[in-house]
This record gives sequence, C-alpha cells and structure tokens, in this order.
Amino acid sequence: MRLPGLLAAALFGAAAALPAAAQDAARGAVMAAERCAACHGENGRSAMEGTPSLAGQPALFVTTQMILFREGLRQVPAMTAVAEGMADGAIEDLAAYFASLPPGPPEDRRPRDEALFAAGQALIGPRNCAVCHLPSLTGREQVPRLVGQREDFLARTMAEYRDGIRVGADSQMNGAVVGLTDEQIGALAHYLSQRD
Ligand code: HEC
Ligand code: HEC
Repeated sequence: MRLPGLLAAALFGAAAALPAAAQDAARGAVMAAERCAACHGENGRSAMEGTPSLAGQPALFVTTQMILFREGLRQVPAMTAVAEGMADGAIEDLAAYFASLPPGPPEDRRPRDEALFAAGQALIGPRNCAVCHLPSLTGREQVPRLVGQREDFLARTMAEYRDGIRVGADSQMNGAVVGLTDEQIGALAHYLSQRD
C-alpha cells in the first residue's frame, strides 16, 4: 500500500501548520504518564520486547506515526486503540514531550557481538542509510532516530518494510531494505541497537 501524494501532503501539512508555541511538552508529559508509559517506559525507553523506545525521537516522526496509526495506515492493534480519535493537538503535545526526553539504550541491552556489529556497520554505507537518517543515525524531521533503539523491534520492523507489511508515509524505507536477507537485517539491528 502506498499513500497517495495528496494524503501524504495533507498529513505533513497538518503537522507543519501548527505553530511551535501550540505544542506543550508539559501537557504531553501528563498524557504520556497515563497512556504511554506502561508500554514505552517511564522515561521513554522501552523495557518491553517489540515495543520501541520513543525518547529523543524527532517530534515530526512521532506526529507522523501517530497520524498513520490513527488513520489505520500503519496497522498495529496496540497502537490503533491508543491513537483512535486522538486530536492533532494532543498528538503534537505528546511528540514534543518524547522529543524532549534524553535518548538512550534500554536497560536490558545485550552485550555487543563484535562480528555481528561489524557486519551491520558494513551495510550502512552501501545502503545509504546516513543520507536520510544523518551520519549520526539520530534522525531528523519525519526520519527516526535509530541508534540505541531496541534490537528486537529494529529487526522486526525492517523485515516488515522488506516484506511490504509496513509502509510509511512514503515507500522510501521499503526501497532501502529491498533484497536484504534475515541475517543482514539481524546484523543491521544489532549494529544500530549497540550505537549510542
Ligand atoms: C499497549 C501497549 C502500548 C501503549 C499503551 C502505547 N503504545 Fe505505542 N507502540 C506499541 C507497540 C507494540 C508499538 C510497535 C508497533 C509495531 O509493531 O510496529 C508502538 C509504536 C509506537 C510508535 C511508533 C514508534 C516507532 O519507532 O516506530 C509511536 C510514535 C507510539 N507507539 C506512540 C505512543 C504514544 C504517544 C502512546 C501514548 C499515547 C503509546 N504509543 C501507547 C505499544 C503501545
Ligand atoms: C531515502 C531515505 C531513507 C533511507 C536511504 C533509509 N531510510 Fe530508514 N527511514 C526513512 C524514513 C522516511 C522512515 C520513516 C518511514 C515511515 O514513516 O515508516 C524510516 C524508518 C526507518 C526505520 C523504522 C524505525 C522506527 O523507529 O520505526 C528503520 C529501522 C530504518 N529506517 C532503518 C534504516 C536503515 C538501516 C537504512 C539503511 C539500510 C535506512 N533506514 C535507509 C528514510 C530512509
């Protein structure tokens, strides 16, 4: 599935149209404690398998994904229930809050496997990951931070992009991982999760 250009434009237009002052990280913090922390962690660093950390994610990335969940374009039952009917303003407040949190690896990060780390690192250049995710791989605007993310989540979500199960606001990521083997995806996930 690919988002039609007009819908994609509306999606980013909605996010861009709100003045920065309308976003309130403090309001977002109150909502997050009630509605997000149980799964995404008290400090935005997830301790739950399969659930991504949100601390330090670019605000526009969080906003975009929440709108994709709300509109049923990214289909994950846990998140559809959370995002259903949520107002744009509430999403913006949550995004401002999570963007403001210091990022870092989950407490249960496993020790580094040097061979796997090197195999993952070797794929970053040829696959142009840094062109969109920045050389630091910390993301910008609608492009997510990758470093320090949960390894299990990274591996699964990249396989879902490859297999066409996850499609973002556009198909850039489906192209970026096309043809990768499960082993290569595992190596990339290990490398990214180990980076700070
Ligand atoms: C019941 C558990 C649960 C709750 C509560 C929950 N989430 Fe999630 N969230 C998930 C899971 C699981 C995923 C991973 C979805 C997937 O498999 O792709 C996710 C993914 C996300 C993503 C996408 C992040 C990424 O890196 O791709 C965002 C943004 C998000 N959640 C925001 C929120 C916000 C904001 C709240 C509170 C309003 C919230 N979530 C509450 C379970 C939850
Ligand atoms: C052409 C730009 C582009 C390139 C190249 C690219 N990405 Fe992405 N990536 C994106 C965008 C945009 C998103 C958000 C897409 C969405 O809405 O789902 C994303 C999302 C992701 C996610 C999901 C993270 C999350 O928290 O949900 C992972 C993992 C990822 N990229 C890894 C990589 C890796 C590894 C490479 C290199 C093999 C790469 N990307 C190359 C643009 C790119």
